[in-house]
Amino acid sequence: MESWITGSKIVILEEDVTVENVIDQKINEQMDRDLTDAFHVADLGALVDQHLRWQRALPRVKPFYAVKCNSSKPVVQILAQMGMGFDCASKNEIALIRDIGVAGERIIYANPCKESSHIKYAASRGVQILTFDNEDELYKIAMNHPAAKLVLRIATNYSPPQISLSEKFGATISECGHLMECAEALKLDIIGVSFHVGSACTVLEHFTHAIADARIVFDMGIHLGFHMDVLDIGGGFPGSRDDKVIFEELTALINPALDIYFPEENGVKIIAEPGRYYVTSSFTLAVNIVARRIITNSQSSSNDEEAENTKTIMYYINDGVYGSFDNLSQFRDLLKPTLYKKDFHDQKLYRTRVWGPTCDANDNITDVWKLPELKIGDWLLVQNMGAYTVSTLTTFNGFDGPTAHYVISKKAWETVQKIKKRNESPA
Ligand SMILES: Cc1ncc(COP(=O)(O)O)c(C=O)c1O
Repeated sequence: MESWITGSKIVILEEDVTVENVIDQKINEQMDRDLTDAFHVADLGALVDQHLRWQRALPRVKPFYAVKCNSSKPVVQILAQMGMGFDCASKNEIALIRDIGVAGERIIYANPCKESSHIKYAASRGVQILTFDNEDELYKIAMNHPAAKLVLRIATNYSPPQISLSEKFGATISECGHLMECAEALKLDIIGVSFHVGSACTVLEHFTHAIADARIVFDMGIHLGFHMDVLDIGGGFPGSRDDKVIFEELTALINPALDIYFPEENGVKIIAEPGRYYVTSSFTLAVNIVARRIITNSQSSSNDEEAENTKTIMYYINDGVYGSFDNLSQFRDLLKPTLYKKDFHDQKLYRTRVWGPTCDANDNITDVWKLPELKIGDWLLVQNMGAYTVSTLTTFNGFDGPTAHYVISKKAWETVQKIKKRNESPA
């Protein structure tokens, strides 16, 4: 069964049809045409599961999905139907989200360093909430969007997280007083504070530390007469159940910190900008082995058995670091590929190097996966490929990125419709 939400084809799976069946079907369709193109299957039901999990674990925090993480139209449409807000970083992201029917009030323009024409565009599309972290940004906003509601982003330079963002963005606490005075002089309105502890944060305490810092800046704003009523705790939440940090372990620290520093009775609206949390587990990539090179260490090996034991197999697959693996540098080694229709548990595993399809020697996906001896034409399946993959694809060297097929189980689709209906009905 197929369904269309304005321009996006989403296949609703009958009860007994699984994502694996869809992968089978796509591979068979290609084989009938002598093709072996890489592709993603996106299970949009995983977004629904993550959303329900979020509501259970962080009931006080409204998620504004970070569009940069995966801007596929079906992904943002399903999230929009469930009433999510959106964190946009550019004119085109704002256009995408407004054009699928999301009101400007459900968008935060959360790039602290914006182009003037993009700020003007945000104003023209009813996007009121903008983040900033420096004085020059305030002059641009005063010129192009004087009615904006501003959120001051603070740095979280505590100790290196997995992917730090605070070298590039965020005001230090000691800069905040001056920035607020500038905003006041320019007659701009500050309504809150935001931070981002770094993507895929592995130090749980960074969130609580940042919430405490945000309180200090909140109080500065209140002291200067601003009506401070938004706290934005950013992104950085784990995306897959295989991550070092378990989402619920993190939220078990975040919730009490919010209750201490921003108690519910103070009426502060708490939002977040999760990206990878929502989409990581929804995408599975199917890639084909298009070439192979076996390197035997015959010179230093004294016999055939030793040569066999020390050989390295290089596989060249049809997606690489200029495609879906671009932004996964810290995670590639952790991905666990499986073999399509083959079990390799009882097979001999070899030292393996996996390369992408381009002629660039940097297109090396990983040297740590251990795989058995496979043939050209075999398929590998890689799970957890939804975050910072399809949104950063390039066509370098003339290789098209993999296409994505979007599916959702009937049950998950019905849940989306139920949530939508509930959100639409008057409270
Ligand atoms: C401003 C902002 N918000 C949210 C995110 C999403 O982060 P994550 O995918 O780690 O949740 C990012 C990622 O870079 C970001 O820059």
